[in-house]
Amino acid sequence: MPHYPHEPFRIKMVEPIRLLEPRQRRTAMQEAGYNVFALRAEDIYVDLLTDSGTGAMSQEQWAAVMRGDESYAGARSYFRLEAAVQEIFGFRHFVPTHQGRAAENILSAVLVRPGRQVPSNMHFDTTDANIRARGGLPVNLVIDEAFDPASPHPFKGNMDIGKLKAFIETTGVENIPFGMMTVTNNAGGGQPIAMENLRQVAQIYHSNGIPFFIDAARYAENAYFIKIRENGYAKKTVREIAAEMFALADGMTMSAKKDAIVNIGGLLCMNDDSLHQQVCNELILREGFPTYGGLAGRDLDAMAVGLREGLDEIYLAYRLQQTAYLGDCLRQQGMAIVEPPGGHAIYIDAGNLLPHIPHAEFPGQALAVELYLEGAIRGCEIGSVMFAHPDPQTGEMIFPRLELVRLAIPRRVYTRSHFDYIAEVVGEIAARKDSLRGYKFTYAPELLRHFTARFEPL
Ligand code: F0G
Repeated sequence: MPHYPHEPFRIKMVEPIRLLEPRQRRTAMQEAGYNVFALRAEDIYVDLLTDSGTGAMSQEQWAAVMRGDESYAGARSYFRLEAAVQEIFGFRHFVPTHQGRAAENILSAVLVRPGRQVPSNMHFDTTDANIRARGGLPVNLVIDEAFDPASPHPFKGNMDIGKLKAFIETTGVENIPFGMMTVTNNAGGGQPIAMENLRQVAQIYHSNGIPFFIDAARYAENAYFIKIRENGYAKKTVREIAAEMFALADGMTMSAKKDAIVNIGGLLCMNDDSLHQQVCNELILREGFPTYGGLAGRDLDAMAVGLREGLDEIYLAYRLQQTAYLGDCLRQQGMAIVEPPGGHAIYIDAGNLLPHIPHAEFPGQALAVELYLEGAIRGCEIGSVMFAHPDPQTGEMIFPRLELVRLAIPRRVYTRSHFDYIAEVVGEIAARKDSLRGYKFTYAPELLRHFTARFEPL
């Protein structure tokens, strides 16, 4: 039997959820135009749409919320957050932002100019869009194993060092305002990056004079993977490993809605004094004064506590084992998943499950819809609905290599019986997979179409 970790908490407050009847689910899905983003949360039983901002805050975080200092400038909450940020990340400067994409927006506004290129292992889609919004070009240079769902590579989020060197050579350092690494690699299955790889990437960026920024959304999960998978790290604490990671970089963006276990918040950190000044000016324009950055004082306090809790090794062991448990259960039901399980989510290989549904009929969408119809579970298609686009020259559709459905796991929210329920539902679907049909658009906007598209079954 797959191993389920002991939860390092017990439940003090509950949020009721209900399971609609099959007929009600069908109606809800029809009304949503077969798009899970258009469903009402109250009609969902297990919501695995995202792990972002959906975690359960602890009693210490809620206590911190009550201590929030709502002064406009120089609030006590800011200094409490500053202490946590200094202690963990060690950069010279930081500003709070309302979430991760706000930090990306400000960094891009200050550093990206038309025609400039920003390399990373794989940019998350908001980072990608923020770089493009300033006329820049995001470039993904992850190792090839990232595209092979079956590859058991322990650090599938690694940068391909050869590709990075070649990229810098052909692009020219003057056209690269900064370089990034997304830790863990969400767009590539929540896969971790090895310290050795981060060290090499930092060395290459720095020897070329390119500032290095880490997208730190899930840095704590990454640090724990380093501890359990990379030679020489078993005896180091996750805090020490995190410190080693960030000492390699010149700054970071962070969506605190992930590993800082808050419902809203972000961070932008850097060492460079003049960059910090420019960032503060941009922040005042778009987010707020630099000691609150678009958040309430209470949010800053919740983040300060959550940053420390997110590094607790007993919690992290539970967190990663819970994700692995879901992976084990799904494999037992005959599902192919992106191997090995990542930190925050299991990615089902819908293309493998539904070979009779072509890319153009959205196998991932078909599975996402079925998860809801069968069990009121909400996951998220990461495949052709999200990424297929016409070739600018020929007009022919270019489809992504993988058709996935992501089941993202909110932090400290669901218990073992929820996971067993997911496994049962998936088993029911697997048993009649040949009867599943594809979908077609009845409406699709040009950009970020997965959020608002509407569909019809074929
Ligand atoms: N970077 C990564 C790696 C992310 O996964 C996200 C968000 C962001 C940046 C942007 O942060 O949402 O706070 O503005 N990921 C969420 C997800 C939305 O569902 O994976 P944000």
